[in-house]
Amino acid sequence: MAQQVQGVIARAKGEPVRIETITVPDPGPGEAVVKVQACGVCHTDLHYREGGINDDFPFLLGHEAAGVVESVGDGVTEVAPGDYVILNWRAVCGQCRACLRGRPQYCFDTHNAKQKMTLADGTELSPALGIGAFAEKTLVAAGQCTKVDPAASPAAAGLLGCGVMAGIGAAINTGEVGRGDSVAVIGCGGVGNAAVVGARLAGAAKIIAVDIDDKKLETAKGLGATHTVNSRSADPVEAIRELTGGNGADVVIEAVGRPETYEQAFYARDLAGTVVLVGVPTPDMKIELPLLDVFGRGGALKSSWYGDCLPSRDFPMLIDLYQQGRLDLDAFVTETIALEDVEKAFERMHHGDVLRSVVIF
Ligand code: APR
Ligand code: ZN
Ligand code: ZN
Repeated sequence: MAQQVQGVIARAKGEPVRIETITVPDPGPGEAVVKVQACGVCHTDLHYREGGINDDFPFLLGHEAAGVVESVGDGVTEVAPGDYVILNWRAVCGQCRACLRGRPQYCFDTHNAKQKMTLADGTELSPALGIGAFAEKTLVAAGQCTKVDPAASPAAAGLLGCGVMAGIGAAINTGEVGRGDSVAVIGCGGVGNAAVVGARLAGAAKIIAVDIDDKKLETAKGLGATHTVNSRSADPVEAIRELTGGNGADVVIEAVGRPETYEQAFYARDLAGTVVLVGVPTPDMKIELPLLDVFGRGGALKSSWYGDCLPSRDFPMLIDLYQQGRLDLDAFVTETIALEDVEKAFERMHHGDVLRSVVIF
């Protein structure tokens, strides 16, 4: 039987979000209904509300979530009712050329639930990133659920579903940071600070955190940055070079998404170093680089999509590290809030002192 629950809805561009009653259908073939326990508030949710992603209003927001599988549809083998899971954006197909070549993180044919959740009047909802977890229950594709250790706190676990995974993965998967490397992270919000954590997990010897906000740099220090640079008071490229014996960092991670920081990342890397671009630019942004610098410096420019993560491999591994006290996910949970407070959390995002607000159910 379809169920009615409360969810956070963005009805129209720029309008404050509202709690509304939504209908969650029973899971169809390949689908699962998940009872959400925690869901983080991410910039992407705000971006949806502002019409910055697409115009498929109304949106059911929320996508950094952990919860318990309540029911599954026909043919579901990935998870069973009662499983504690972290949700991911898309289930992979297992059959496209990326999947067949062992790189399902680049799957060309990912999917979400086929059925739609609806408003009371029957209007179909667009769930944010195919998840829609600012709701007591949500319908997803079973492949969007990854089973993890049920002892892990939902507030912390849910964060692996998006921003924190993107940052950790930028360092460990895309950047392939290795033991003894020097790493610079430009922009230390939730994503950049997660990259700092990833660099430390990977055994980096030097981790240089760059931001324009001293509060963010303090947090970075607490998470493992060995040096901090406020790029309002110092040229970050020069500072990174100075801190790396005049060379530049082995891996530079850009986690802002602006032309000036892209350019800084490019010049802050050592010869043959790697630049990892995880900050998402807008379509109008451009930079100009001398081709000889692109060619002559060697190395690699890589963009990092969802931290190049493989949920089935990375979520349980990172949850194990968290449970062992080796990965401080709690440091990213600035505050826990109620479902009604998502709009207020959006306002606080602009003030810079919140890494993540997390809705607890
Ligand atoms: N130089 C250095 N840091 C900067 C600059 C700059 N010119 N401009 C902004 N910052 C810092 C901010 O002070 C903030 O700490 O970048 C950080 C951005 O963090 P958040 O706004 O919290 O964003 P976050 O969620 O971390 O995402 C960062 O990654 O995945 C992408 O879409 C996401 O593009 C976004 C980026
Ligand atoms: Zn997100
Ligand atoms: Zn595929």
